[in-house]
Amino acid sequence: MRSSLGAVPDVEDALADVLVERLDRVEERLHEIIAISDTMVSWTSRHLMDAGGKRVRPLLTLLGAAFGDIKRPGVVDAAVLVELTHLATLYHDDVMDDAATRRGARTAHEIWGNSVAILTGDFLFARASALSSGLGPDAVLIHSRTFERLCLGQLHETVGPQEGEDRFEQYLGVLADKTASLLATAGRLGALQAGCTEAVADTLARYGEKVGVAFQLADDVLDLRSDPETSGKTPGTDLREGVDTMPTLLVRRRVAQGDDAPASRRLVELLDSDHLDGAELDEALELLRADPAVEETAAMARATADEAIAILDELPAGPARDALVSYTRTLAHRDA
Ligand code: IPE
Ligand code: IPE
Ligand code: MG
Ligand code: MG
Repeated sequence: MRSSLGAVPDVEDALADVLVERLDRVEERLHEIIAISDTMVSWTSRHLMDAGGKRVRPLLTLLGAAFGDIKRPGVVDAAVLVELTHLATLYHDDVMDDAATRRGARTAHEIWGNSVAILTGDFLFARASALSSGLGPDAVLIHSRTFERLCLGQLHETVGPQEGEDRFEQYLGVLADKTASLLATAGRLGALQAGCTEAVADTLARYGEKVGVAFQLADDVLDLRSDPETSGKTPGTDLREGVDTMPTLLVRRRVAQGDDAPASRRLVELLDSDHLDGAELDEALELLRADPAVEETAAMARATADEAIAILDELPAGPARDALVSYTRTLAHRDA
């Protein structure tokens, strides 16, 4: 998994060596944990794992553990636990978003149908739960609470804001639950398994909450700007599914506040229509890509990443903190 590490340019040599070695172990362990003699389930559950991915969450777990004893036995399993949980959510998310590609591969539901994709996600959650039991009762509780937040985030995104609820607050709450909760748990579990104090683990969790929101805002930009070859995803997925993201919320607010430029009004008209045909979707995508809301979202992602970096000041200075600072910037400026 040198590709994950390649995203941490300033990592000190000694730390880089241990991270590479631990990441290799995470890969081996991921394969061990999902191994099953049932051939069909083996194919479906390995499908996304083998397709690649950046392994952001395992790397955050290991960087959290680098504030303590990274060689402790539970650290690798904590990293595997968060990646396995992430993988399971991806199977479910692609069904909900009707996404065609993920990690450069056809999505599981496109190949095997929705039921198989959902049940494969459930299978991975089950294996993750069993793994958490080996890390102790605190880890089981942290994991189950994270799982709850992942479900609530996806539910609240699906249902949308309630009457009288602020759309931006609601959206940021969705991002915190569906994405940041797992990044926070990655740092917390890594630190706890490495024998760090609760205070260090809490700081890493608060950092994860911030960097997770920055990461998901960057994902909103990626959905519009990315080259599918690099991102491995189909651009415009959110738009096609009628899912509001930070850029569309910004455009809607501007128009509600009186922006009557024809391009902005036309875009909101398209966003409001129940069904977009192919040409209308292309038009909406083009209008949104050209809208300043995209750069505004990218700037929000960078500002939120800076807030995450400020939290890291509470941690002891050294190679682990330097690596985390550097990694945080790449997470908010990502192209994949
Ligand atoms: C995708 O996560 C889902 C989000 C929360 C944005 P990643 O961007 O980490 O996906 P992989 O693991 O690299 O495929
Ligand atoms: C994914 O959110 C969040 C989870 C999997 C919990 P998105 O739907 O925004 O992410 P992508 O763009 O499909 O990766
Ligand atoms: Mg999705
Ligand atoms: Mg989604």
